[in-house]
Amino acid sequence: MPTRWYRERKGEGFYRKAKREGYRARSAYKLLQINDRYEVIGKGDLVVDLGAAPGGWSQVARELGARVVAVDLDSMKPLEGVSFIKGDITEDGTVEKILQQAGAADAVISDLSPNLTGNYVMDQARSVWLAQSALRVAERLLVERGNFVCKVFMGEDYPDFLAQVEQRFTLVKAFSPQASRKRSSEIYLVAKNFAGATETQ
Ligand SMILES: C[S@@+](CC[C@H](N)C(=O)[O-])C[C@H]1O[C@@H](n2cnc3c(N)ncnc32)[C@H](O)[C@@H]1O
Repeated sequence: MPTRWYRERKGEGFYRKAKREGYRARSAYKLLQINDRYEVIGKGDLVVDLGAAPGGWSQVARELGARVVAVDLDSMKPLEGVSFIKGDITEDGTVEKILQQAGAADAVISDLSPNLTGNYVMDQARSVWLAQSALRVAERLLVERGNFVCKVFMGEDYPDFLAQVEQRFTLVKAFSPQASRKRSSEIYLVAKNFAGATETQ
């Protein structure tokens, strides 16, 4: 069994690799690993990237040949081929701006994370709330058979959220990328083939 020190160093390995390879965040490797396995983003796609700053996922989506609309509470340095919207994804005004900018999307990807308080129950509930906001955006934007990727913290509210995603997509997998820190309780739901919104929420 690897020691905690070893596991954390392994996580830092992706941080150094990101610096060396010009990615703005180590999380870029999570999306690369997700896409290698599930092919959620393809050439020519329009991708909406939620919780995008500092821009690692948008960089990866661009490399995969997608056009990107990126959204975050924080500012983000410009990236070629990426339109940026500064706003809170839980607010209707921000969702309207995304709709105006993107129209329709082939994939909605969300790496949204709450500011951590250290109280896991609270952090987990806020993570699921952000994930539900991302799902609402996906429902309004995705083309039929579109794809959705969403970070969420495991815990009490997770099974209900998973059920909501399963009602809307024909293939749903929970994936833990190698680039996630080993002690992290985050997982990524990878949902393919949007089948349309349902009544239940
Ligand atoms: C883990 S970071 C994303 C890293 C990004 N995927 C990358 O590769 O560079 C999570 C982001 O979610 C954003 N965020 C958190 N709550 C938000 C909200 N309500 N609306 C928009 N962005 C939010 C944070 O500002 C933060 O930049």
